[in-house]
Amino acid sequence: MITSLPVTETPADQIPAQDLGFGLHFADRMFTQRYLRTRGWHEATIGPYAPITLDPAAQALHNGQMIFDGTKAYRRPDGDINLFRPERNAQRFNRSAARMGMPEVPEALHVEAIRELVRLEARWVPHAPQTALYIRPVMIATEKALSIRAPAEYLHYIILSPVAPYFAGGFAPIAVHVPHAWVRAVRGGTGEAKTPGNYAGSIVATEEATALGYQQVLWLDALERRYVDEVGAMNIAFVYADQTLRTPELSGAILHGVTRESVLVLARDMGLDVREERIDFFAVCEDIAAGRITEVFGMGTGAVIAPVGRLGYQGRDIVVGDGQPGPVARALHETLTGIQFGLRPDPYGWTQTIRVRS
Ligand SMILES: Cc1ncc(COP(=O)(O)O)c(C=O)c1O
Repeated sequence: MITSLPVTETPADQIPAQDLGFGLHFADRMFTQRYLRTRGWHEATIGPYAPITLDPAAQALHNGQMIFDGTKAYRRPDGDINLFRPERNAQRFNRSAARMGMPEVPEALHVEAIRELVRLEARWVPHAPQTALYIRPVMIATEKALSIRAPAEYLHYIILSPVAPYFAGGFAPIAVHVPHAWVRAVRGGTGEAKTPGNYAGSIVATEEATALGYQQVLWLDALERRYVDEVGAMNIAFVYADQTLRTPELSGAILHGVTRESVLVLARDMGLDVREERIDFFAVCEDIAAGRITEVFGMGTGAVIAPVGRLGYQGRDIVVGDGQPGPVARALHETLTGIQFGLRPDPYGWTQTIRVRS
């Protein structure tokens, strides 16, 4: 049972699509619920978006016990709204919780909170092509204590942000830097949890990449610094001239992307030979140079499909194909966004429609 509090509504339609950016504006309402070890989850509420008050000794601020997730709501041509596989995000949220020693949330309530929040804030789902309403669930440890142990109090909340595609250039190819000095995650670590520390640790490498003229970082595995993990906050795929599509296996160090999972299904249905396996970065460089790899792209909720045009490693650049988006990335982008926005049929049952037309 979710309690709804009165909220002052601001006009959402005054933000021009070109000013949306990513995660800069927020809807008027948020969902919250609290957890006490003695009481379980309680006080599920949709109320005004507002600052949260934390004790300076709240455990999240000291041991970083926090998780988050991200999914989107899409405006359909008929005016209704599509959610894309929200139950997969709820399941991943709970996997992250389990890895970080935090309590799981009831998945049905989590999805219901998203549905109800999006229904109430439907006017915040933008209409311009490729824009969407980003949904950000979070859980933080709120108990006042400095010891390192599983806390007894948590806050779970969900906020909404109307967004443009993650990369300002839309479907334009991105340039990716492969750092030698830093790694993101190690098997057995927290890489497959969506926890802020993974992202905090990546910022210095992203800053370096930006200073060198690249937009994203391609992470190699932490042990041998040889095998491909992920690209920024996206999973990665390589398309070979023989119509094979390879993506790194879910090793424990990379996130179980919902876009990745969906793309693999679509790619198989397009007739590609899909393989999830360990991918040697140095073999990738040779295969690109020899024309055996024709396309490289990232996959994630923010950008959906982000073609990679150029890779830089230790001062050398390697251009993928002719540096432009390839046909496989284009077809996958068109099919997946077509399903998400309700522009084409969804034979997979991935979308849930929220009716908002009166
Ligand atoms: C590290 C990382 N990898 C991959 C992804 C892609 O996951 P998804 O497709 O579920 O957005 C994300 C984004 O959530 C991410 O943060």
